[in-house]
Amino acid sequence: MPKLKVITFGCQANELDSERIAGLLASQGYQAAEAMEEADLIILNTCSIREKAEQKVYSQLGKLQILKRQKAGLVLGLSGCLAQQEGERLKKRFPCLDLVAGPQDIGRIPALLAQARGEESYLPFGNEDWHGIEPCRESRIKAWVGIMEGCDNFCSYCVVPYTRGRERSRPPEDVLLEIEGLLTRGYREITLLGQNVNSYGKGLRPPVTFPELLYRIETLVGGRLWVRFATSHPRDLTPQLVEALAELGSLCEHLHLPIQSGSTRVLRLMNRGYTREDYLARVNLVRSRVPKISITTDIIVGFPGETEGDFQDTLSLLQEARFDNAFSFKYSPRPRTAAAAFPDQLPEGLKSSRLQGVQRLQAQISLEKNRTLLGREVEVLVEGEGERGFLTGRTRQNKIVHFQGSGQKAGGLVLVRLEEAFPYHLKGRVVT
Ligand code: SAH
Ligand code: SF4
Ligand code: F3S
Repeated sequence: MPKLKVITFGCQANELDSERIAGLLASQGYQAAEAMEEADLIILNTCSIREKAEQKVYSQLGKLQILKRQKAGLVLGLSGCLAQQEGERLKKRFPCLDLVAGPQDIGRIPALLAQARGEESYLPFGNEDWHGIEPCRESRIKAWVGIMEGCDNFCSYCVVPYTRGRERSRPPEDVLLEIEGLLTRGYREITLLGQNVNSYGKGLRPPVTFPELLYRIETLVGGRLWVRFATSHPRDLTPQLVEALAELGSLCEHLHLPIQSGSTRVLRLMNRGYTREDYLARVNLVRSRVPKISITTDIIVGFPGETEGDFQDTLSLLQEARFDNAFSFKYSPRPRTAAAAFPDQLPEGLKSSRLQGVQRLQAQISLEKNRTLLGREVEVLVEGEGERGFLTGRTRQNKIVHFQGSGQKAGGLVLVRLEEAFPYHLKGRVVT
């Protein structure tokens, strides 16, 4: 049997896509290769969210080019957002590539492979078809469940609407059927995935909203697994969604709600559709209804024209919102996006020092937040072995916990008393 290796870059959507690619090719007779050297087919599932993500792919391609020279018959493919962004011209630049397929072309990969082998082949899918593909999942505990694809928001810095196309929601019946299958196979956690999950439902007949989908999922799973979702757009955070978070027992107490900047002026330039005050009001509403909720965010520093005052607004926002964690990035100009053409692009050095400022402050806040949890007993879903005999898992709030194990198995729920706090994880002891 031919062997396949998929190498994944980028976000959770890409991790799911890699599992879809593996699932699709398994149905064509491909087996998973452990090492790259064993593979007959290697697919790089790529990301282009920032320049650096793109560079990582090119450097990996350079290595594979050498491998391909050594191994006759090795087939090299490139899928994902960079494939969509660059298209067929990638083959010119990297003649070692046999096929290029964007995120919307996953269903066509078998046909593209046949073409690469020089066979006559028709393309069985006119368009994407993720309904029919059973993902070949990496984990037996946690599963991604795609509920929508694409994005219509066109934030001025972001390449995703160009790489993943317009928003398409998956019918609720399909989503529920997939979750039912995961329950049967003993999965303990699902994460509903989409670029903008809380605008789920656009174009579906009969209409259905994201909170409505969550209530239907609750009825189906009834506490048998944990439910998470990512990512939510602050503008689409409705009172109904906050109620769902407060009411539904399966929904974990965690919300990833990217703000991007603490300056309303910059938010407007980013085309985010909310102000600093709107955002803070929503955070306060969520916290008042779900006191235990942990909230995480994304921050971009060095957006074109970001002044020292705008940057200070981001720092003060972090102080005010007190996120459990923040993922922060230096602004990176992307092809076709509006902001790439904005005047007053900031120098790299300034972006770096602002990034450091954000990261230093957030590490301190994250540590303080984690310290408030010390002494508590929390449920941890065991994920596996960590370092030096420790087991590792996550709480419902999505906090990483390391604890001394005594025979606990991955996939089990244990009660852990939290004893030591760090910015990005906690340590504890199993309560017997
Ligand atoms: N759909 C999600 C996430 C998209 S990408 C959302 O809207 O929240 C994940 C994060 O990458 C974004 O939240 C943003 O903080 C960051 N990002 C996107 N484009 C970027 C760019 N051009 N430069 C730097 N960071 C960027
Ligand atoms: Fe990009 Fe904005 Fe869409 Fe998120 S909401 S994927 S940041 S365009
Ligand atoms: Fe990257 Fe595409 Fe995800 S650009 S972050 S892989 S949506």
